[in-house]
Amino acid sequence: MGQIAFIPKEVEAGEPRVGASPETVKRLAGLGFEVIVEAGAGLGSRITDDEFAKAGAAIGKAADAGRADLVLKVRRPTEAELKGYKPGAAVIATMDPYGHDAAVAAMAKAGITAFAMEFMPRISRAQVMDVLSSQANLAGYQAVIDGAAEYDRALPMMMTAAGTVPAAKVFIMGVGVAGLQAIATARRLGAVVTATDVRPAVKEQVQSLGAKFLAVEDEEFKAAETAGGYAKEMSKEYQAKQAALTAEHIAKQDIVITTALIPGRPAPKLVSAAMVASMKPGSVLVDLAVERGGNVEGAVAGAVITLDNGVKIVGHLNVPGRVAASASLLYAKNLYAFVETMVDKTTKAFAVNREDELVKATMLTDAGKVVHPAFADAAAAAEKAAAEQKSADEPAAGGEPAKAEKKPAARKSKKAASGPTSGPASGGEA
Ligand code: NAI
Repeated sequence: MGQIAFIPKEVEAGEPRVGASPETVKRLAGLGFEVIVEAGAGLGSRITDDEFAKAGAAIGKAADAGRADLVLKVRRPTEAELKGYKPGAAVIATMDPYGHDAAVAAMAKAGITAFAMEFMPRISRAQVMDVLSSQANLAGYQAVIDGAAEYDRALPMMMTAAGTVPAAKVFIMGVGVAGLQAIATARRLGAVVTATDVRPAVKEQVQSLGAKFLAVEDEEFKAAETAGGYAKEMSKEYQAKQAALTAEHIAKQDIVITTALIPGRPAPKLVSAAMVASMKPGSVLVDLAVERGGNVEGAVAGAVITLDNGVKIVGHLNVPGRVAASASLLYAKNLYAFVETMVDKTTKAFAVNREDELVKATMLTDAGKVVHPAFADAAAAAEKAAAEQKSADEPAAGGEPAKAEKKPAARKSKKAASGPTSGPASGGEA
């Protein structure tokens, strides 16, 4: 006992989720943690302080982070939050590290042991910790709900005395976890659903959900899946063939939902402005990849836009956060399952086993260093900054070194972002 787990209220605007639920608080307490939940942390997810307290948490304030051995978060800690942590504390969150080398270096500098949940390997032991899956599943569902809400017609076919409403045609591009749930949701709403992906394994899954599969099934397609189950970036030639195939199809669709991602790379552009222009007035595109550059040309992150031709493009940010009460319960469980592997069942001591494959795959920073192999550039930046700080021999540390860190990190972040197989996919291949 004696070890403290802290669950803060997320500081980022537009983040209603939280890193614990009453159920996981109870279980954390069972593992031997003294659990402190910041007041109001659960409100965005419809969990009251009272419910957390009943589950065994103490309700505290942001400053309690300084006492914690373990911090359970949704988003990567900000500079201000980092200042409040105890060196050596374990911080588990969705770190979104690609392209953010300076932020990764800052976590090293703060001395925390930071874990990026999105790097969890996709092996059966870690399925219960897979935040990408738990959140993408809800995002896929919500994308259909958002698309249906913007669409000013009904989705199911309705045969009534006053006439027949035709079923809406819904096209899902990218059939990973989000895409599969989008297909299932659109089918439940009675739409006629088609779907496309570059991975051949998807075809059967699409068909088993009652949707039609549409793809360029050439030799490149047959080899498009990594051992980790993710997509590879396709050649220019393939992309052209894919565009030719889908262009005609998109013109006839009522709702298009895009979810296509490649780990560590910008999202592939699948729908051109010309394709958008070919759609009927009132049609809707929902771009779930908008945070990673978008699949749809013209999509605006954080906005729903209506084009001159009456076609809408939905670009909501943080789509799982739009179903926060559900998303937080699953997310909290993912985090808890990971923490459970770090606690000795008999002594109830919390200790990070640096030899464990889950730890190796997810640990970004440790003991003042950036340790994840995908962030060697950030590691160099952090070390350089530390060295500069030392040689500057200034008593007032803080503002200046951060600047020194930023430059090389920002320049190299592009390179880090272009290392696809060293990202989450490599975990799956292990
Ligand atoms: P993701 O979020 O990385 O990508 C979404 C989808 O976009 C993928 O299906 C991908 O093939 C597709 N895509 C990429 N480029 C495309 C293009 N140019 N055109 C069309 N589609 C394109 O993928 P997600 O959702 O993370 O799933 C990847 C795989 O991992 C799936 O097969 C899933 O079943 C598997 N998985 C395995 C788990 C496990 O074994 N524990 C857990 C969760 C998922």
